[in-house]
Amino acid sequence: MNDLLQTIKPVTLMGPGPSCVPDSVLKALSRPTLGHLDPDFIQIMDAIKHQLKTLLHTRNALTLPISGTGSAGMECCFVNLIEKDDPVLILINGVFGQRMQDVATRLDADVDILEFDWGTPVIVDAVQKQLSKKSYKLVAVVHAETSTGVMNPVSDIGSLIKDKDTLFLVDAVTSFGGTQIFMDHWGIDVLYSGTQKCLSCPPGLSPVSFSPAAVAALQARTTKVPNWYLDLSLIMNYWEGAARAYHHTAPINMLYGLYQTLSLILEEGEARIFERHMEAHHLLVRELDLLGLRMQVDASCRLPMLNAVRIPEGVDDVEIRNRLLKEHKIEIGGGLGPLAGKIWRIGLMGHTARPENVEKLIQALKTILPPSQGPLM
Ligand SMILES: Cc1ncc(COP(=O)(O)O)c(C=O)c1O
Repeated sequence: MNDLLQTIKPVTLMGPGPSCVPDSVLKALSRPTLGHLDPDFIQIMDAIKHQLKTLLHTRNALTLPISGTGSAGMECCFVNLIEKDDPVLILINGVFGQRMQDVATRLDADVDILEFDWGTPVIVDAVQKQLSKKSYKLVAVVHAETSTGVMNPVSDIGSLIKDKDTLFLVDAVTSFGGTQIFMDHWGIDVLYSGTQKCLSCPPGLSPVSFSPAAVAALQARTTKVPNWYLDLSLIMNYWEGAARAYHHTAPINMLYGLYQTLSLILEEGEARIFERHMEAHHLLVRELDLLGLRMQVDASCRLPMLNAVRIPEGVDDVEIRNRLLKEHKIEIGGGLGPLAGKIWRIGLMGHTARPENVEKLIQALKTILPPSQGPLM
């Protein structure tokens, strides 16, 4: 094997993604590559669709992984559903809500936003008020805002939209696999995720799911989907039906990895997995507290899989992260946007969400953090 690959040493991935990948998933990635129309491969594609539907608790026939990372999933959802001047409401309380606004604006949609303080959740009453003033083709929100560590009240927002002629779009990039999602029950019409967070597969695929109402909206378009690669009306012909039509060459081995990781999740069981995330999160919060480190987000809306921790005054953000990586082979993330330099983002996603990883990080922080760092915030 090439020198550069030989020198790679495992890192405990405790940042905002990617997360640690189980050995059996890495092995799955290295299985022999098949042709993208090979019947054995098509069997795997069908199994993946079934696994995704089971874990998202949806009956949506149009449920499949898009080739590309979470951002490709985001782009795919907007590009298929939005036409020029379509009224869209985006709920923003972090970087990824802002990114949805950017994507929708590039499509010349009529974009309204409701902004909430970063580090706090979307306020449902404010959404209700806005919906009583104007009707929208689509309302979009990020379930788990990775930039701040906040869980948004998706099911409550969904219940405001259920009886309206409005599509509800949810970014589940960080939430899927780490906390419950009841897509149909919560009234979610469109959802995208990514493989590298709580699904613990390397980055490269983005599961998406479209409800019958979302498919009807796609079919009712008066203009062509402006992006050929992400046009679901074409991609569908490869993922569905007896005869599969070539669209683009599927990332075969990545799909083996996804199939394996979803199999592991189903084997362990959702309830146990969500419990494991909560246990690791509570352990981390307790241990950080003993070190004098405080959480950025109120306990009522904290993500278990992405912990935003205030950096104590006088402590050098980048130096600590560099030393964790260099000396202890642990990766954690820094803050984004207005929270850059103010928080660390500690991921406990998927396979990473285990007490031994929390202990390892805490031991490393004990050796790195200055013994006396002035008043902790
Ligand atoms: C909530 C959320 N949405 C979208 C994305 C974009 O995903 P990717 O970086 O895989 O393209 C991310 C990535 O961190 C995310 O956390």
